[in-house]
Amino acid sequence: MKDRVLITGASGFVGYHLIEEALKNNLEVYAAVRKSSRIEHLKNLDIQYTYPAFNDIAALTREIKEKKYDYIIHAAGATKARSASEYNLINATYTFNLAKAAEEAGVKKFVFISSLATIGALKSINGLITDNTAPAPFTAYGKSKLLAEEKLKSLTKLNYTILRPTAVYGPRDTDIFIFLKQIAKGIEPYIGNIQQKLSFVFVKDLAVVSVKALFAPEKSTYNISDGNFYDRYEMADITKFLLKSKTIKFHLPVNFVKIVAAIAGNISSLRGKAAVVNLEKISELIAVNWHCDIERAKSELGFYPQYNLKAGLTDTIQWYKENKWLK
Ligand SMILES: NC(=O)c1ccc[n+]([C@@H]2O[C@H](COP(=O)([O-])OP(=O)(O)OC[C@H]3O[C@@H](n4cnc5c(N)ncnc54)[C@H](OP(=O)(O)O)[C@@H]3O)[C@@H](O)[C@H]2O)c1
Repeated sequence: MKDRVLITGASGFVGYHLIEEALKNNLEVYAAVRKSSRIEHLKNLDIQYTYPAFNDIAALTREIKEKKYDYIIHAAGATKARSASEYNLINATYTFNLAKAAEEAGVKKFVFISSLATIGALKSINGLITDNTAPAPFTAYGKSKLLAEEKLKSLTKLNYTILRPTAVYGPRDTDIFIFLKQIAKGIEPYIGNIQQKLSFVFVKDLAVVSVKALFAPEKSTYNISDGNFYDRYEMADITKFLLKSKTIKFHLPVNFVKIVAAIAGNISSLRGKAAVVNLEKISELIAVNWHCDIERAKSELGFYPQYNLKAGLTDTIQWYKENKWLK
């Protein structure tokens, strides 16, 4: 009999790739989605659907016991929300509820997809984020993920692994895609004019390490990137090379962008929605140094990223073209 894994956030960008990787590893996949989730793109995958009640620990425990999940990869999360309390509810409370249920039901491993936003970027261009860097999240999103980690660590009997990915890109992503689409249109906008060290991880590499983490040493936390750092222009430069396109490059004043983002945020919240580009997102985009050390993920998880930014963008842009997201 195959081992069974519950993947939450299955309808999302990362979730799709987690499912593919789990199936490749001969796991039986239960995809946790909501009644409102868009799941057309999952229809050809050999998976079962489930609709966990993240607000109910007893119901979650029953579900885990009845469906006999061996493992859980918890990727459901809010990357955009209208308030800090919404982030905390979805990212921290729901994570705790599922983890508590997993502990009670005795799952073999609970892998939590956290975020490098729990640490926050370094303010200096020198140095890199390591295991010893004290968490200093500067967004409500990062704070909610850190709270989730703290709640998880309070569960003494749970066998967990926490992964903290930096910015994730790849087929089906809709966030970094906003920038790539501008490049395709010949527009190359930047916020402010500072030197930056950015880090990225290709979604298929993240999926590989997430599945590896199911069989990893317990109770540890790993920062995840492709191991490199990139200056702020490299993503656009590679994209222009791949699309054989030219752009007009310009730098918008930070304060101007903040005002526009604040207005956009207010309009979205009046409509009851979370803005895609908001003040928090801006602060992440203009942060100085996201370079992070992944040596421990290499040695303990056997995580050897297969895609640097050029290889990952080649795959990604080909997918966007094939699927008519880009011309
Ligand atoms: N993308 C990145 O750059 C990045 C970087 C670091 C960490 N992460 C983490 O990776 C995970 C996946 O992110 P993603 O980029 O794949 O985001 P995404 O495409 O927005 O997917 C989020 C998933 O979470 C589910 N979800 C959101 N709110 C929920 C709720 N209240 N109840 C149940 N399910 C809910 C969504 O379900 P619906 O489809 O029903 O909305 C969706 O399946 C998140 O935990 C995120 O924090 C992402």
